[in-house]
Amino acid sequence: MYSMLQLNDLQENVLQRALQFSDELLAPEAAERDQTESFAADHLKSMGRAGLLGVNVSQEYGGLGAGVVAYAVGVRALAQGCAGTTVAMMVTNMVAEAIEKFGSEAHKKQYLTHLCSGKWPAAGFCLSEPGSGSDAASMKATAIKELDDEQISYRLNGTKAWVTSGGEAGVYLVTAKTDPSQGARGVSAFLIPSGTEGFNPTAPEKKVGLRTSKTTQMVLEDCVIDADALLGEEGRGFSVMMNALDGGRIGVSAQAVGVADAALKLMRRQYDLRQDSELGRLIAQSQAERDAAWLLCLRAASLKDQGKRLTQQASMSKVYCTEMAGRVTQRAVRGLGSAGHQAHGEAERLMRDVRVMRIYEGTSEIQRFVIAREELKKHRSAR
Ligand code: CAA
Repeated sequence: MYSMLQLNDLQENVLQRALQFSDELLAPEAAERDQTESFAADHLKSMGRAGLLGVNVSQEYGGLGAGVVAYAVGVRALAQGCAGTTVAMMVTNMVAEAIEKFGSEAHKKQYLTHLCSGKWPAAGFCLSEPGSGSDAASMKATAIKELDDEQISYRLNGTKAWVTSGGEAGVYLVTAKTDPSQGARGVSAFLIPSGTEGFNPTAPEKKVGLRTSKTTQMVLEDCVIDADALLGEEGRGFSVMMNALDGGRIGVSAQAVGVADAALKLMRRQYDLRQDSELGRLIAQSQAERDAAWLLCLRAASLKDQGKRLTQQASMSKVYCTEMAGRVTQRAVRGLGSAGHQAHGEAERLMRDVRVMRIYEGTSEIQRFVIAREELKKHRSAR
């Protein structure tokens, strides 16, 4: 069975749409796009029209309302074709879900309908900064409240880093401190559309992998926005971002499993040509680890579908799936012999693409920290 569970009609529909995009549009161009570092804006817009930029967004706003298991199944299928384009799709879904969960009716109408109709190729998520990654609450960007003619606005200054789809997205979820004297409690979240004065991308980063995904910094220079750009309450932006990342980590898990699937496919093809016992051992080990990883991903997705707490399970899934995919792609490079080592070969690209998955949306070290902290909470509440 494709996903080790019986899919309902909606989930099956998402899977089939994603497989079609993956096989017909993403996979055939993935190697060339990797070399030329080209962003697939048109393909992403087509995905938007097919509902894949709002898989878990209500149909009322143009999404599919298909849930989180459907989302994981779709991400996995897309990542088998091109993990770089898939990350733009994933971050967009993460931001779209945050808009639906925390936004006003005006936000939903203004942004979700554009994302789910193919008008924009992506949405962006701006949390990290050049000087703050894992310790996200130590951000330096500021949003200072101003009152002019009884009109409240915020003046934003600072630099957000590692922004997926920077310069391409139609709207960005941006954090800055409305109270710089505080840590997490001083952080607020804002929705800033592209083209807003004082909010600009830098040149794209040069990266080892996921080169079809465009990554920039986004610089805020006296960027003045109305108070209604706030997403959620002032001072509660950190929770908005952490909540989004719980779901985002399910997406990264599914993306990593999709890349492992692609690596296993290469290994199987080679094994069919040459039944080498060592290659057989690598395949057996990889398949078992990949299935275990996918089950962890599905558990976290299913908890989210049920509206249950998933912080710890999402972190377990993310650390296991991404580290598994690192091992499996290394084995593919090894198992394919000299072809595996060929620059711009398929296995080499998968190995490069998967490396950052152990870094973004929380490093493996951060996932272990979150898992241990949740264990401690359980231990204390059981006393
Ligand atoms: N859901 C909702 N709220 C949460 C939460 C969650 N999972 N986790 C924490 N919060 C809330 C807390 O309840 C707390 O709220 P109160 O003040 O009301 O109690 C507030 O957020 C602060 O929480 P913490 O005390 O846990 O904050 P911390 O500073 O100790 O956080 C951390 C530590 C968990 C390690 C956090 O900093 C973290 O997750 N760091 C990693 C950041 C990350 O993943 N960055 C990736 C950026 S995106 C990216 O990679 C690019 C891309 O686009 C692909």
